[in-house]
Order: sequence, then C-alpha cells, then structure tokens
Amino acid sequence: MTNITDKGLAAASEVDGSLTDILSVAITIARGAGAILREGVVTIAANRGAALQFKTSEIDPVTEYDVRSEKYIVGELNKYFPEHRIVGEEGGAYEVVKSRTSTAAYQWHIDPLDGTVNFAHGFSIFCVSMGLLIDGVPSVGVVYSPIIDEMFAAARGHGATRNGAPIRVSPIATLKRSLLITGFPYDSHTSDSNVPEFLGFQRTAQATRRIGSAALDMCYVAAGQMDGYWESKIKPHDIAAGIVLIREAGGAVTDYEGGDTMLTSGRIVGSNGLLHNAMLDVLKKSQL
Ligand code: IPD
Ligand code: CA
Ligand code: CA
Repeated sequence: MTNITDKGLAAASEVDGSLTDILSVAITIARGAGAILREGVVTIAANRGAALQFKTSEIDPVTEYDVRSEKYIVGELNKYFPEHRIVGEEGGAYEVVKSRTSTAAYQWHIDPLDGTVNFAHGFSIFCVSMGLLIDGVPSVGVVYSPIIDEMFAAARGHGATRNGAPIRVSPIATLKRSLLITGFPYDSHTSDSNVPEFLGFQRTAQATRRIGSAALDMCYVAAGQMDGYWESKIKPHDIAAGIVLIREAGGAVTDYEGGDTMLTSGRIVGSNGLLHNAMLDVLKKSQL
C-alpha cells in the first residue's frame, strides 16, 4: 500500500492523473482553502450578531467565506485538471473548460465550508471537503479541518490517512458499546427529519453525537473515534470525500437499505463494518 503524503503542488504539467497525484494536488488545494476559512472565522466570530445571508431559511446561513473558499478551490482545480467537472455547493456546476476524451467522467463534489453554522458562531468544528468521483465511483477524498489542523486524505486502493499517518476504523462490535454521530437537515423547523432515527439510536447505542459537519463526522468514523454515522437528506458535496475515507479505512458505507444509492438518495450509513447490519436494523425499525 502506498503511503499518502502531502507532497505539495507539482507543476500542472507534471500531474499525470494517477490517483495519488490527484490526491496530492487536492491536499494542497484544501490546505489553501482552509487558510481562507481560518482567517475568516476570526472576522465572523468578532462580528457575531451582524447580518448574515441565508439560503433555504434563517437556519441555513451562508457567509462570504463559503463563496471565497469555493472560488479558490474551483480556480485551483481548473488549473490542474481543466477537463474535470466541478460541482460546488455554492456555485452549482461549473463549465468543463476543455473537453478531452472521457475526462467528464471525473467529477469533483466540493463543499468549500462544511459546518457553516459552527463557523458563523466561531465554533472550531468546520472543514473543507473535496471528493472526486470517477465514472460515478468515489475515488479521492480530502477533508481539512483548519483550526484543529487535521488533514484527512484517501484514494481508492491506497488507504486513508490523517496528517499523513494511516487511519483505521474502530473494532467496536456491539451497538451498546458504540459512539455514533449524525446530523439534521435544514428543514428541522418544519419537519421531524431524523428524529425517530435519533431516538432509535439513543436507545441502543452507548451515546449519540451531533457536531455539525457531515464530512468531519465521516472522518471521525474513518479514524476510529466514532463507530458509526448516519444521515438523510444529505448532498454529494457533504459525503463524496467521506465515503472514500471510511471505505479506505476498512469501514462500510451504504444507503439505509444496504445499497449503493447514497449519492442520489441522500441517505447514508457509514460504519466500522462490524456495526453496519445492526445500524441498518435500527434505521429500518425507526422508520416503521
Ligand atoms: C451541513 C453540515 C451538517 C449536516 C447538514 C449539512 P453545511 O453542511 O454538514 O452537519 O447535518 O445536513 O447540510 O451547510 O454546513 O455545509
Ligand atoms: Ca455541507
Ligand atoms: Ca457548505
């Protein structure tokens, strides 16, 4: 297994398109975007109470730093991979700048700031998330948490790392010993999304957590600090990177039925593998 390290950016002409090369470039770009957020959170925290902009409703904020981070990432990706397609949370789909043979098969799903509510409150749990699908298969994932300075990275077939050191999912084999993590969608004022499921796990796991960043939730499962994660109404930009990380760390990722529709159905379960069936069972029962 190749160890993935942060090699820094090679010149665009030197990037040969192997997964580890793509990963190295993505790591450096995520670090650059993280620096934008690290600087931004200080300003945002100092101005708490100032007017924020909102997307779907007043509980769904977006800051200028979400947009700045995305512009930076898209600009950099276009430099290195001009033929890749990029779908960013804030900008929708960007044009494929050049098209060569089958390269539209390469699609980045970018969350330039995952954990915006935390960020807007000056709470340190937020990240940059970049996932690459190749022919629809999650193949490269990078998640950078700029305040904690943790870089999670994985490429299909090459393992998963945190700050360059290999990571592995936990060995916890029973739900009642497990620490689980989840998130709630932005419709929580008008719907009970995930409430029955949360209750189901509160009654079966050792404990459940909600910290406000789906991409980091998944990294913590990959790193063996959490044992399982579930969420619904989630988007490809939230989970594309995390899927690669959990799988490469030896875990399992499926939809609520054990299938592979996470990116289209928006329902996802990621676990250390040992707990997977038990988690699917709780989800099934809580939706009756
Ligand atoms: C949100 C976070 C949160 C999850 C929401 C996401 P955002 O992303 O990942 O943990 O529960 O479903 O939308 O808005 O901070 O990028
Ligand atoms: Ca997100
Ligand atoms: Ca976001």
